[in-house]
Amino acid sequence: MSAGCNQTRGVRILITAGPTREPLDPVRFLTNRSSGKMGYALAHGFQSGGHSVLLVSGPTVLDVPDGIDFIPVETAAEMYEAVNHAIRRMDIAVFAAAVADYTPRHPSGQKIKKTGETITLELVRTRDILGSARGDFGFTGTLVGFAAETEQLEANARAKLLGKRCDLIIANDVSKPGIGFDSDHNEVLLVYPGYNEAPPAASKHDLAHHLARTILNLHQRQHTNPTDDPSFQPTPP
Ligand code: PMT
Repeated sequence: MSAGCNQTRGVRILITAGPTREPLDPVRFLTNRSSGKMGYALAHGFQSGGHSVLLVSGPTVLDVPDGIDFIPVETAAEMYEAVNHAIRRMDIAVFAAAVADYTPRHPSGQKIKKTGETITLELVRTRDILGSARGDFGFTGTLVGFAAETEQLEANARAKLLGKRCDLIIANDVSKPGIGFDSDHNEVLLVYPGYNEAPPAASKHDLAHHLARTILNLHQRQHTNPTDDPSFQPTPP
């Protein structure tokens, strides 16, 4: 396990995965149901094709696939810093993590005592890591986000595609039983500017390999200089 970017052959890909944990006190936190399986399967999908993968992950019980650079984080703020540090060296960034949108404003330094019948938590917005990629981070590579929706899958995903200036949003309906959070399977809608694709539902392993190929093709279409192609015939002036 190493922290840093392994400069091997192929394309450099950053993947975020897993949940974040937002501390309430030294023993409690707010989190979500993400297992990390989708993001780790993607990391394996890219890495098995000979590409260089940096996985930035919240806490999971999964083993990090061999040959993948790994930065473990806990909170949304830590994930933001890790991504900010690495993303400009990347060709592709894929955001599969389920990042907390809110975090406690004043985490307690001591274990919160059981006192009154109710307790009120004040939460503040976390920074949008995917939404910072194009602007604050200055990322110019292929940008892929996920959308975890429970209604209006396509419309909400398309709003994220535009709002976060992505090249592709991978949308999943996390209200459907048997897919999404903590399942071994997933069913996704690929939302591009101007069109959609709906690959068949599959195991996260098989789907991730399909997605890795799809994203690499998208990257190649966007970033290959036609003069690098030996069959390229320049148009005469
Ligand atoms: O981990 P698994 O159990 O395998 O489950 C997989 C999954 C359901 C977590 C995955 O398929 C998925 O949908 N990941 C995105 C979850 C999510 O938080 O979606 P969102 O619609 O709330 O966020 C939209 C995008 O913004 C995501 O790419 C997210 O990573 C990113 N984001 C969100 C908030 C934030 N503060 N920073 C972000 O980067």
